[in-house]
Amino acid sequence: SWTPGHFISESIAKIKEQVGGGKVIAALSGGVDSSIVASLIHRAIGDQLTCIFVNNGLLRREEADRTLKVFRQNLGMNIVYVEATDRFLKRLAGVTDPELKRKAIGAEFIAVFEEEALKLGQVDFLAQGTLYPDVIESTSSVGTASAKIKSHHNVGGLPENMALKLLEPVRYLFKDEVRQVGIELGLPEEMVWRQPFPGPGLAIRAIGEVNREKLEMLRAADWIVMHEIKKAGLYRQVWQSFAIITDVRSVGVMGDFRTYGHMVAIRAVTSDDAMTADWARLPYDLLARISNRIVNEVPGVNRVVYDITSKPPGTIEWE
Ligand code: XMP
Repeated sequence: SWTPGHFISESIAKIKEQVGGGKVIAALSGGVDSSIVASLIHRAIGDQLTCIFVNNGLLRREEADRTLKVFRQNLGMNIVYVEATDRFLKRLAGVTDPELKRKAIGAEFIAVFEEEALKLGQVDFLAQGTLYPDVIESTSSVGTASAKIKSHHNVGGLPENMALKLLEPVRYLFKDEVRQVGIELGLPEEMVWRQPFPGPGLAIRAIGEVNREKLEMLRAADWIVMHEIKKAGLYRQVWQSFAIITDVRSVGVMGDFRTYGHMVAIRAVTSDDAMTADWARLPYDLLARISNRIVNEVPGVNRVVYDITSKPPGTIEWE
């Protein structure tokens, strides 16, 4: 029967055989799948793997640092860290349509990734964290060098001229199996049990135009949501839980002053596969703590609402 231990030793042998003396690149996002794939391949071929971590400025608070620390310091991996916040924000300036945001982010990601990959000289393989459900969903793109990077990155295709072969060591696994592999590989629980996070990141949770001011408010609110949900012991039970910053402004009162601030929405859903979802019946006192903390600790926000829409008809994300 399947065990993570067996899977790891078999994969390592296969990766060694497939890659030989070649060089592999992988995009590291801090997410569960890319993290596990990177550490699996690193086990197999060590320094022949280089990971590219693109900080698009749309990550959660401390996300980039935490990921770098695990992979660079603890595992000693080769990581190219690209600080690309300015590039992404410039590209997103004035963009309000959700699909155009995704396109802009995808295109910029490809541009940055390609630039960095070309600097590495000869590269033979591109590693991807494709899972079995992704394979079923998009059989058309499987197995070719120009195959889509997982929808995770929302990119249309990879640099064709790089002629990379794909390395997809977890493509026959389901999410729960990948998590078991991650634990067996010794990755931090916190990383292995991360809730899904969309490739376009906080950009699709900042309704309307994305700018630094809104991202700052969103990061602070999101941090509070995540920590309160974790403290309440509900982080693994809910499928996703996060904050959304809106352009809706409303009047409030704080001390003797009238305020006119942004509205933050909280979204928490239960789901098995993200195809359908129900809003999580979070305890009122937890919602109260989240709300109090956000209006007190996040400057510019004076109102918090809870999204009680299921999917369908709502989607999990607001954009
Ligand atoms: P929706 O909002 O469609 O989301 O109910 C379903 C799941 O997909 C995630 N999601 C995305 N993931 N790129 C991604 O990598 C995207 O553009 C994207 N949009 C939504 C969402 O977080 C949820 O888990």
